Amino acid sequence: MPTNLKDMTTLHNGVKMPWMGLGVFKVTDGEEVIQSVKAGIRNGYTSIDTASFYKNEEGVGQAIRESGVPREDLFITTKLWNADQGYESTLQAFETSLDKLGLDYLDLYLIHWPGKDKYKETWKAFEELYKQGRVRAIGVCNFQVHHLEDLIASAEIKPMVNQVEFHPHLTQKELLAFCKNEGIQLEAWSPLKQGKLLNDPILLEIAHKYNKSVAQVILRWDLQHGVITIPKSVKEQRIIDNSNVFDFELSSEDMEKIDGLNQDSRAGSHPDTMSVGF
Ligand SMILES: NC(=O)c1ccc[n+]([C@@H]2O[C@H](COP(=O)([O-])OP(=O)(O)OC[C@H]3O[C@@H](n4cnc5c(N)ncnc54)[C@H](OP(=O)(O)O)[C@@H]3O)[C@@H](O)[C@H]2O)c1
Repeated sequence: MPTNLKDMTTLHNGVKMPWMGLGVFKVTDGEEVIQSVKAGIRNGYTSIDTASFYKNEEGVGQAIRESGVPREDLFITTKLWNADQGYESTLQAFETSLDKLGLDYLDLYLIHWPGKDKYKETWKAFEELYKQGRVRAIGVCNFQVHHLEDLIASAEIKPMVNQVEFHPHLTQKELLAFCKNEGIQLEAWSPLKQGKLLNDPILLEIAHKYNKSVAQVILRWDLQHGVITIPKSVKEQRIIDNSNVFDFELSSEDMEKIDGLNQDSRAGSHPDTMSVGF
């Protein structure tokens, strides 16, 4: 189990990735994203999760440069948007993201959504970027078991990470087991279900028992499941609080109680029907 915010999991290619990062979805480019990323880094976060779709890569890059932390001590993830899927368009979109971030390499590049018929071609470009050393690890988001099986069947390199919606209302049991078995690291997006879980009576009761907040209980539950988590906040105190999850341990009974809250319900789109941008 990780014991502090800087602890990392080892991806199947040997690259180390922090167990916890800061998400920046719906954070406005400019001052808002600069302040939130700088607050994260100032308080010990080393991993930042953005995407070309979030339109804040420039601010993320500025915050990285102003943070005073050496680039190699940070782990920066961005994502390829749906409209850019395809071999040549992926190579181009990668350069655009890197330019916006002001970086000369990425730590992790992810396909944002599977779509229907272009992810294999897109993956070939990801493999090429990886082989060229432009990115230290490559992965996918929102891939269901069937997408992964299909991709792995023809891929030269297996994705190192699958970032999916994951929280107590969407426990993704089958997908988590599949990824563990394949050596693909699962990463939770919307771990707090975008704030919709914070008044759940069972989570409140468990939080009270450990003298923690509901957010901290959920984030700890992610880690105890071996899942990377990237909560988003633009508020410094919440950014700090969300990272204070390394000083307690949920009992197996409480882990099961939280697992039992599953409703297979999502805050975001379903990967099989998400067609925006394709
Ligand atoms: N790959 C994908 O398709 C995908 C999709 C969605 C998200 N993501 C990634 O996952 C990250 C996290 O997901 P998310 O941003 O959708 O949702 P989230 O992290 O589950 O929740 C964020 C919301 O919770 C609030 N919040 C955060 N910490 C809190 C706390 N301690 N107490 C009370 N409220 C708190 C935030 O408000 P304040 O900011 O006001 O504190 C914000 O409204 C994203 O930022 C993004 O990087 C990826």
